[in-house]
Amino acid sequence: MISSLPQLPDPTRAERMAWWREARFGMFIHYGAYAIPGRGEWVMNRERIPFEEYRKFYPRFQPRPGCAEEWARTAAEGGMKYVTLTTRHHDGYCLWDSKLSEHTTVKLGPRRDLVAEYVEALRRHGLRVGLYYSLKDWSHPGWLAKQNGDEAGHAAFLEYVHGQVRELCTNYGKIDVLWYDGPGPYDEKGWRADELNGMARKLQPGLIINCRSHLAEDFDTPENHVAASPPGRAWESNMTLNDNWGWHAGDFNHKSPREVIRLLTRIVHLDGNFMLNIGPEPDGRVPAESAAILRQVGAWMRVHGEAIHGAARTNFQWHHCGWPTEKGNCVYEYLNNYPGTSIVLTGFAAPVRRATLMSTGQELMLGQHGEKLTLWGLPPREPDPLGAVLKIEFEGKPKYGVVPQ
Ligand code: GLC
Repeated sequence: MISSLPQLPDPTRAERMAWWREARFGMFIHYGAYAIPGRGEWVMNRERIPFEEYRKFYPRFQPRPGCAEEWARTAAEGGMKYVTLTTRHHDGYCLWDSKLSEHTTVKLGPRRDLVAEYVEALRRHGLRVGLYYSLKDWSHPGWLAKQNGDEAGHAAFLEYVHGQVRELCTNYGKIDVLWYDGPGPYDEKGWRADELNGMARKLQPGLIINCRSHLAEDFDTPENHVAASPPGRAWESNMTLNDNWGWHAGDFNHKSPREVIRLLTRIVHLDGNFMLNIGPEPDGRVPAESAAILRQVGAWMRVHGEAIHGAARTNFQWHHCGWPTEKGNCVYEYLNNYPGTSIVLTGFAAPVRRATLMSTGQELMLGQHGEKLTLWGLPPREPDPLGAVLKIEFEGKPKYGVVPQ
């Protein structure tokens, strides 16, 4: 099967990651049998539910037809460019037709290959495909074998893990991101991560891999916080929309649309990506509250997306009204604190041609004196409840002049 795949040359990291850097905004989806009890994806472990009990959720796991289509539509309309789905979380329940497990959505539960449905739905919406895969598996008898000195048991477990990654990288066409999680008690040698990722890359030239197999690979994954990696190193903040990854019926602590945009603009300003999670309900639907938030985020993205996709770190510095980024001939200023009718920005060392308030489309009056750029004619009140954005177009490349701090 593998030998029949064309062996395309592996592009360099910069080439492989160009689309990912451009995308900036993605969706994370935590969905599995843990949605049935509705107490988050760690319920089996936190409540010490024996596997024999836990597996009783499987027959009740009945995602409604078309749920993957709903996820993809929600992501695309939210202005996201890629999605990452938990193909198997720590509980061991596989959302695809794994030949290496008895606990799959094809053998137990809906009798459907949800990964196949998901990949197809994403492609229909022009979204890149990310697969989350948990290395640890609480349901596998061998998952702690090595810790208990049972090398043969560990070898069997590794064969299972490597085999599943092989399935995911073989059976669903082009995969864009492999998102590991749960390296748990083992280091990269314990997982034979070098060999594992080498195999994945061979099967999927161009694959982007995160750092959670204990090898640095392509990008860092700060979880529920913003932490920029050193320049040159890619990173992606992954965050919950409320307090849980998987569906939790009692979690009402959602981030507001404004908070989401504030995080997104902060992250892009710091040159990172933002992957925001939803935890679908037991039947796979996007929770109404999450859908409403993402609708508002999407409306903002339709007006301001140009300032997010492809925008990157700039030498222009923070301002008390917001954070700048740069793209082509433009500097974008995310106005997280609205300035009122005028604003003074500094550090301009090249001629500015035009300044626009993206949120209304209006061109602003500008005066450029030395390093100072003054803009007038903004509406007195903030024109977008999620935050306004300025687009400042230079005659040529933006040039920042160092100012004393
Ligand atoms: C943690 C949690 C896990 C979640 C992940 C997302 O590792 O164990 O439940 O999937 O973070 O980053």
